[in-house]
Amino acid sequence: MNERLVSDRLKCVASFLPKGAWFADIGSDHAYLPVYVCKRDKQAAAIAGELNEGPYQSAKKTVTAEGLTNRIEVRKGNGLAILSANEVNQVVIAGMGGSLISGILEDGKQKLAGVEQIVAQPNVEARAVRVWLQNNGFRLNGESILEEAGHIYEVLSAVRDKHTAKMTEKELLLGPYLMKEGSDVFQTKWKAEIAKRERVIKQMKQAASPDLAKMEKFRHEIELIQEGLT
Ligand SMILES: C[S@@+](CC[C@H](N)C(=O)[O-])C[C@H]1O[C@@H](n2cnc3c(N)ncnc32)[C@H](O)[C@@H]1O
Repeated sequence: MNERLVSDRLKCVASFLPKGAWFADIGSDHAYLPVYVCKRDKQAAAIAGELNEGPYQSAKKTVTAEGLTNRIEVRKGNGLAILSANEVNQVVIAGMGGSLISGILEDGKQKLAGVEQIVAQPNVEARAVRVWLQNNGFRLNGESILEEAGHIYEVLSAVRDKHTAKMTEKELLLGPYLMKEGSDVFQTKWKAEIAKRERVIKQMKQAASPDLAKMEKFRHEIELIQEGLT
């Protein structure tokens, strides 16, 4: 696998893992992430989990082709069910929606006992992941936002910590680290999100019986975003 073919998105996810990571990549698809990490770090080892047969076979093929079968084990199964307790120190779940990621974490909670860090890259609904992390004893310790091929991606890292301060509504939606940094990509994303909500509100106003609660929710979110952008 040519490293240059690995997306900036996956490189960003990898950048949150410590040296010598011993991690699970759930929904690994071609196993590009574990292969990229293990090729650069001789101490790293991984378990690549895949639910579906096609991607499972692709993952096995990549790992075999790269001669990494001794350090990357590919397993087929649903979410964290492929793990035994205390098998890995980090869990990565990338390239899915935030609701699916938090659902996988919730369903496999008991497998997270020995896990010190979770790195998540939700394509949408990062809020759902932040909510799950804060309700389950994980403290956000870093976030990144990047644009690649016309898409904007958020990457979240969290570590186990019982004394997690509650995030505000604004922080849950926008991301505390991302909001503080306020990068150009962050501004672009959330200006577009305001416009999206304004469009929906406008359409809803024209409906015969507008969903007032939903309109209010969007208005409230617009306020939060505007505050976060200033
Ligand atoms: C869009 S791909 C992302 C692949 C890779 N993680 C990345 O970020 O490039 C999502 C992958 O997750 C797998 N997947 C979806 N739900 C899953 C689950 N519950 N458990 C394991 N794998 C799952 C799909 O088969 C698919 O290969």
